[in-house]
Amino acid sequence: MAVRRPTLRRAVMPSTGYGHNGGMTDSPAPLADPHLVFDPVAGTRDVVVLGSTGSIGTQAIDLVLRNPDRFRVTGLSAAGGRVGLLAEQAYRLRVRTVAVAREDAVPALKEALRGQYGTEPLPEILAGPDAATQLAATACHTVLNGITGSIGLAPTLAALEAGRTLALANKESLIVGGPLVKALAEPGQIIPVDSEHAALFQALASGTRADVRKLVVTASGGPFRGRTKVELANVTPEDALAHPTWAMGPVITVNSATLVNKGLEVIEAHLLYDIPFDRIEVVVHPQSYVHSMVEFTDGSTLAQATPPDMRGPIAIGLGWPERVPDAAPAFDWTKASTWEFFPLDNEAFPSVGLARHVGQLAGTAPAVFNAANEECVDAFLKGALPFNAVMETVTRVVEEHGTPGTGTSLTVADVLEAETWARARARELTKNTPTTSTERTTAEARA
Ligand SMILES: NC(=O)c1ccc[n+]([C@@H]2O[C@H](COP(=O)([O-])OP(=O)(O)OC[C@H]3O[C@@H](n4cnc5c(N)ncnc54)[C@H](OP(=O)(O)O)[C@@H]3O)[C@@H](O)[C@H]2O)c1
Repeated sequence: MAVRRPTLRRAVMPSTGYGHNGGMTDSPAPLADPHLVFDPVAGTRDVVVLGSTGSIGTQAIDLVLRNPDRFRVTGLSAAGGRVGLLAEQAYRLRVRTVAVAREDAVPALKEALRGQYGTEPLPEILAGPDAATQLAATACHTVLNGITGSIGLAPTLAALEAGRTLALANKESLIVGGPLVKALAEPGQIIPVDSEHAALFQALASGTRADVRKLVVTASGGPFRGRTKVELANVTPEDALAHPTWAMGPVITVNSATLVNKGLEVIEAHLLYDIPFDRIEVVVHPQSYVHSMVEFTDGSTLAQATPPDMRGPIAIGLGWPERVPDAAPAFDWTKASTWEFFPLDNEAFPSVGLARHVGQLAGTAPAVFNAANEECVDAFLKGALPFNAVMETVTRVVEEHGTPGTGTSLTVADVLEAETWARARARELTKNTPTTSTERTTAEARA
């Protein structure tokens, strides 16, 4: 199969610059740059959707179905938990290939596909842990990575290596494999889909890199905004899953409650835009109208705002540099609304500080942070770990991991090894953590 090589259509503004008044000068080529367009295509864009049955995936498919003149989905991938939905999507979109990570899901998938296709020929089926990675390298214009978790790293690398434009929702792959992604990605090849980073992308388009003073990442504050650490002690998975402004998958929703998601996003912003951590601020904005902001050296701040709806950022990821009309609803300015901003409570939510720390350590530290967190979130959702113990456990695993020695020479094997260790250590610590307040009091008394 021919590998599509990058062609830069235009670079109308310099991505480097001569700093003045505190502007950015240190990076020759940020990973994501709105001034560059990678691999332009006239007419319909072929898109592969990884994680098609999830929150990002289903919203992407809604957007594609409403814009058949712009996008055509050629491949879908999922874990294999929702084969009925996957088969329905495959038939509606008439895709070439369907991929599932779980091989044991193939019989049920075939049956569900047969139910949709009747006597028509079925699409090609890829199955197994590498199925999404294989699919990511197939012929298409854009790969949307909407898989949850660091399992998305191999598909991210495969899409970049094959020369596809990568619409990146799966922030974990960038966070755990930052140097690997940087080594493979061509300028302009990655378009961020996370709403905050899509907002920064759009705001950054209005100035040169030299004029950027800082990035301001907004956080809704999640369902527990305003609570103290003591008040968070007994919150339940149901409480954590009730996000006030966004409907998302369970992992990112719990990560929004702990604010780990915001910590991951600070690392993501640093890696995408090559802005130092001390120039990335977090501000709590409960309404989730402003998705992030860029402060320029002249004191001007540009904010990107829409009602919270991921189809807006997904449309940026799939359609850039064009905007997709009516991708998501706009504001109704005839109705009164209040937009509030608050400083972050770092004591109740230590996750953002810890994320900055691992981001600065680099190497395998972000992978350890993320893997330990994924294990702890799983334990929390199963009722096996109290809410505050999620961050306590992650902090302990990060501390035990210490300062990584790999730096920028990180390999995939380093990442996998660090993740395996962090998951095992987090599971071990989780097993020994008392789950109820009575158990905790008893354990503290014994100590
Ligand atoms: N949801 C949002 O609004 C939002 C916003 C910003 C960023 N993001 C990011 O986008 C990513 C997806 O989030 P989400 O909320 O859409 O998650 P989700 O609703 O839990 O969906 C996850 C998707 O990934 C699939 N999947 C899981 N493991 C897989 C594997 N090994 N191979 C292939 N597919 C696999 C799942 O398939 P099954 O259905 O078969 O399990 C499902 O389709 C995350 O990185 C998240 O941080 C999400």
